[in-house]
Amino acid sequence: MAYSTDNSISYLAKCPSGLEEILAGELEALGALNIELLNRAVAFQGDKKLMYEANYRCRTALRILVPVTKFSIATEDDLYTSAKAIRWEDYFGTGNTFAIDTTLSASLFTHSQYVSLRVKDAIADRFREKTGIRPSVDIENPDFRISIHMYQNEVTVSFDSSGSSLHKRGYHVSNAEAPLSEVLAAGMILLSGWNGQSNFIDPMCGSGTLLIEAAMIALNLPAGQFRDEYGFMNWKNFDADLWEQVQNEAIEEQRDFDYIIQGSDISERNLRSAMANLKQARLHKDIELKVSAFQDMVPPEGGGVMITNPPYGERIKVDDIIQLYRDLGDALKRHYTGYQAWVISSDFRAVKMIGLRPMKKYTLFNGPLECRFAGFDLYEGSKRARYRTGENDLS
Ligand SMILES: C[S@@+](CC[C@H](N)C(=O)[O-])C[C@H]1O[C@@H](n2cnc3c(N)ncnc32)[C@H](O)[C@@H]1O
Repeated sequence: MAYSTDNSISYLAKCPSGLEEILAGELEALGALNIELLNRAVAFQGDKKLMYEANYRCRTALRILVPVTKFSIATEDDLYTSAKAIRWEDYFGTGNTFAIDTTLSASLFTHSQYVSLRVKDAIADRFREKTGIRPSVDIENPDFRISIHMYQNEVTVSFDSSGSSLHKRGYHVSNAEAPLSEVLAAGMILLSGWNGQSNFIDPMCGSGTLLIEAAMIALNLPAGQFRDEYGFMNWKNFDADLWEQVQNEAIEEQRDFDYIIQGSDISERNLRSAMANLKQARLHKDIELKVSAFQDMVPPEGGGVMITNPPYGERIKVDDIIQLYRDLGDALKRHYTGYQAWVISSDFRAVKMIGLRPMKKYTLFNGPLECRFAGFDLYEGSKRARYRTGENDLS
């Protein structure tokens, strides 16, 4: 139940496909109990403090939902009746705005909008009958977000404790072309295993998302450091002291970073976006930026991790893309000894042109695009074995 204070509240953290294990690890580190990996989500249990912490600190969570009730329906009218029976007035008032987000899988209904509409009617009618007034709907920026999940005839109603999606960290004030989601960028860094104990490079950094997420990991800044609003702040049971405690504890865990985080990009305009974002995140003194083609860049000495999100070829001619990935492979072989290099791309043919065998690869989705996130080991000792093959099986 959403408002109990014992240690047995069930939660559901949503995440992008492929990041479930990483998110489970983050939740475990916060002390979550009974963690269960699901498809694009992780179920867990904990108290209210843990829910605040999951929102504030998990880098790979998109939303933290609090399931409040489940019911079965046989007809469309059952949906309305069961939704109307929920004591909504215990959770929010007529002065609050609300919105409903529905996901359907193999359900009685085929249109999620219709389900949202029926539940909205049920809520409005309940409030009107009880108080004479009904709360308003606000799709864009509601005080209270309700999540409906319907699997066959089973309906789960959850409250969304996050509000707007947690990928909206609050530092992205300027966009270059095709920026990565902050949650995906953080997930890629955590999948690579980089933990702030070596240099971090992105030679096609665009608006700087990977660099900022890397700096936040290195300095152990909470994911929500630059975000002011969460859904739970509008709930009747919001505990401002507990929330302050959660933030203070995170501040105490910040640490120094002794290595270099460096980004470069061929586009001056994109680098201006990166600088604006870095300044918004107050990380411009922690990250080096340079206008340069990656072909001309030499990474800092001492090794580390390079992660990059090159163009995928949707907007650039294919010939150029093939050459770009060939050049990337050449640059890695010539200059990146001592580094692990990771590349995300939806263009599998182009990635093969890097000409190195990946030591690891993951399937991730950049928006709707299925991508491979491939890691190449360029450590000194593995040089000969590595270069013997041009094979690069990314299927
Ligand atoms: C998909 S965007 C990267 C977006 C970035 N990850 C973000 O979150 O904003 C690809 C970037 O590669 C840059 N780029 C393309 N060719 C390049 C080259 N030869 N050297 C350096 N950067 C290049 C583009 O200017 C663009 O900013």
